[in-house]
Amino acid sequence: MRLSIIFFFLVLFPCFNLSGSQSYNAMFSFGDSLSDTGNVVVAGLPYGMSFFGRPTGRCSNGRLVIDFIAEALGLPLLPPSTAKGKSFLRGANFAYTAATTLGFRFFHRRGLSSGLWVNASLSSQIRSFEQMVPSLCNSSQECKEYLSKSLFVVGEFGGNDYNTPIFAGRSLKQVYTFVPKVIHAIHSGVERLIGHGATEIVVPGMLPIGCFPMYLTLYSTWNTNDYTDIGCLNKFNNLTSYHNSLLRRRLQGLQRRYSWTRIRYADFFDPTIQFITSPTQYGFSDGGALKACCGAGGRGDYNVNLEAKCAEPGSDVCSNPSVYVSWDGIHLTEAAYRLIANGWLRGPYAKPPILQQN
Ligand SMILES: *[C@@H]1O[C@H](CO)[C@@H](O)[C@H](O)[C@H]1NC(C)=O
Ligand SMILES: *[C@@H]1O[C@H](CO)[C@@H](O)[C@H](O)[C@H]1NC(C)=O
Ligand SMILES: *[C@@H]1O[C@H](CO)[C@@H](O)[C@H](O)[C@H]1NC(C)=O
Repeated sequence: MRLSIIFFFLVLFPCFNLSGSQSYNAMFSFGDSLSDTGNVVVAGLPYGMSFFGRPTGRCSNGRLVIDFIAEALGLPLLPPSTAKGKSFLRGANFAYTAATTLGFRFFHRRGLSSGLWVNASLSSQIRSFEQMVPSLCNSSQECKEYLSKSLFVVGEFGGNDYNTPIFAGRSLKQVYTFVPKVIHAIHSGVERLIGHGATEIVVPGMLPIGCFPMYLTLYSTWNTNDYTDIGCLNKFNNLTSYHNSLLRRRLQGLQRRYSWTRIRYADFFDPTIQFITSPTQYGFSDGGALKACCGAGGRGDYNVNLEAKCAEPGSDVCSNPSVYVSWDGIHLTEAAYRLIANGWLRGPYAKPPILQQN
């Protein structure tokens, strides 16, 4: 059954490829390290080892979900918005590794700004987009038309808004109070893009952070009740589920209000849980479900060591990243991103699927 589904992906994919290429003239992406394609390049090899052969700023061994979407739509891999001498007529990527949804002031007021690496909130990413628009189209009528034929991917957002207080030792009770503010900011961002003429919008939810080898290592406990049946930390997955359920609800409201647009929620959570629940059905190894591929040379239950993170001295990388779900303890491997992208493009992880035009 599973094999035949995978076969179906492989064989039919080129056909969708062709139909998709006619429908979007460009793609614009906003987000954090799940979608940054080069605005921030922090780590060297083995980042990029499996596809680009060099570090590109992507936090994985190869392509990200956004790259597989670009390929399926017949668009070039998105250039980072800060790239020099590039044309952005077919799209740009405003995502920044470590970006939060909320701005500096929000964290500063709560004594958390020292945990921020970049000033690249969703609102400031959209401001960069607004500054680029005049180079993409001339009259306001032309811009509306051009942007209505572009695909907007707003997210993932949220991961860094929550790990900033969590890593600073704040209580989850406090972190929960951030969630409605994060969702409100995403909601406002989507509305602002609709105001510029966006009609095709994809909004990804969060990954199950309680399954990240990094969280599993930092917050391991002896109490088996703290873990889900597949070995993830309950309380962090619950936080993610809360974020995702609020987000979905707000997106439904937006969809009702802007009936001429199509706003899709794209799910990172369920597919990742499925990879971990039944790794071999998706081409992963049993050992690759909750252990990072790139990390601490096999030390620790999850191959994560803060003293030897991926690409740092003392770290090493697995020989076959494609059988691992997690690349570096936080981000996923190209293999996992490819499967998730397929689920967004063709279903069932985005409704309606991105390649379904009507
Ligand atoms: C972000 O901006 C604030 C002022 O708005 C500044 O104080 C802070 O140093 C900046 N942080 C980074 C990481 O650039
Ligand atoms: C805007 O107008 C100029 C002059 O007519 C033209 O050369 C240029 O290609 C136009 N730009 C776009 C993005 O259509
Ligand atoms: C997480 O959610 C599950 C299911 O809703 C619930 O049974 C569990 O008690 C929650 N655990 C924590 C730590 O929040």
